[in-house]
Amino acid sequence: MWKRVICVSLLAILAERIVNISIMLNLFRQVQNYEPGKCRIIDGMIFGSEDITVLPNGIALISSGLKYLGIIDRNEGKPGHIYWLDLNAEDPQPKAFSLSSGFDAGNFHPHGISYFLEDQDDYSEGAHLFVVNHPFQKSQVEIFEIDFEFNMLMHQKTIKDELLHHVNDVVAITPTSFYGTNDHYSDGTMLFELLLPLKLSDVVFYNSTTTIIVATGFGFANGINMSPDGKYVYVSDTKTSEIHVLRKNEDFTLEPERVLHIENASSLEPTVTSVYANNGSVLQGTSSAARHGHHLLLGTVIHRTMLCTLAE
Ligand SMILES: *[C@@H]1O[C@H](CO)[C@@H](O)[C@H](O)[C@H]1NC(C)=O
Ligand SMILES: *[C@@H]1O[C@H](CO)[C@@H](O)[C@H](O)[C@H]1NC(C)=O
Ligand SMILES: *[C@@H]1O[C@H](CO)[C@@H](O)[C@H](O)[C@H]1NC(C)=O
Repeated sequence: MWKRVICVSLLAILAERIVNISIMLNLFRQVQNYEPGKCRIIDGMIFGSEDITVLPNGIALISSGLKYLGIIDRNEGKPGHIYWLDLNAEDPQPKAFSLSSGFDAGNFHPHGISYFLEDQDDYSEGAHLFVVNHPFQKSQVEIFEIDFEFNMLMHQKTIKDELLHHVNDVVAITPTSFYGTNDHYSDGTMLFELLLPLKLSDVVFYNSTTTIIVATGFGFANGINMSPDGKYVYVSDTKTSEIHVLRKNEDFTLEPERVLHIENASSLEPTVTSVYANNGSVLQGTSSAARHGHHLLLGTVIHRTMLCTLAE
C-alpha cells in the first residue's frame, strides 16, 4: 500500500516537473510568424551563429560552430569559425577570419564573444576579441587581436581556470579582463539543475592576477553585456526569463540592482517588443540578435543565419 502511494507521488512530482519544463521551453507554444522587413538567409553560414556583436563601425562579428553539452554536432566534428560581415554594405556577405598559427584551430568551437577597442576610431591596432572556446567539450577563454588588413585573428592568450568551468558568454572590461557566465554548475548535476528550481549558475570576474565569483543565484546565466558607460552589467537568465541588472563596483564585484522579468517572452505580445518570430520553419533556436542602422542580424545556436532589412 505505502509503496503504491510513494510510487504514485513520485510519478505525480515527475509529471509536474515535465509539464513545468515543457512550459519553460515553450513546447506548447504556437508561434505566429512575423518579419520586421525584408529578410533573407545568409549563404554559407549553416553551422550556427550563437553570438553576434557589432563594432561601432558596423562590422558584425559572428561565432559559428558551437559544440557544447549535448547539442547535436551538425558540423560533423569540423571546427568552428569567427565570421565578419559589413552591415554598411547593400548586400553584406560573410567572411571567415583565419587563425594565427600556434593555435589549435582544428578544435576551435566558439561560443560567446566580446570585443574591446583601445581606440574607438582606429581598429588597426588594439582591437581585441574575447571568445569562449570549447575544445574537447572543455571551457576556456581565448583573447585574439583582430587584424582586419590580413583578415586574421592573432592569438594572444588562452585562459583556463577552475572557476571558469562551463562558460557560455563573456564581456570584455579591459584588454586583459572580463566577466564570464557559467551556465551550469557541473555536468553531473546538469539534469537536476534544469529539472529542479536550483540556481547554481554564476558570474565570474577574471584579470591576470585574480579570478573571483562576483554574482550567484542564476538558473542558467546565458548572455552577458555591459552598459556603454561601464556602470552596469546585464545578465540574461534563460531558465527564469529574467534580465538581471547589476551595478559594477570599483573592485569589479557586482551588486544586484534590479531584475526584469520578461513575461510572455516568446509571444508576439511580451512585456518587451518582439521584432521577429518564426515557428522553426525558417530559423530554429535563435540565440542572438544585433542591429546596425536598418540591418538586423539574427543568429541561431546551430542552424542558419538571417539578415533583415528593417522596414522604415
Ligand atoms: C515551474 O516551477 C517553478 C519553480 O518551482 C515556478 O516558479 C514556476 O512558476 C513554474 N512554472 C509553471 C509554468 O508552472
Ligand atoms: C585584478 O582585480 C583585483 C580585484 O579588483 C585587483 O585587486 C587587482 O589589482 C587586479 N589586477 C590587475 C593586474 O589589474
Ligand atoms: C501574457 O499572456 C497572457 C495570455 O495571452 C495574458 O493573459 C497576460 O496578460 C500576458 N501578460 C502580460 C504581462 O502581458
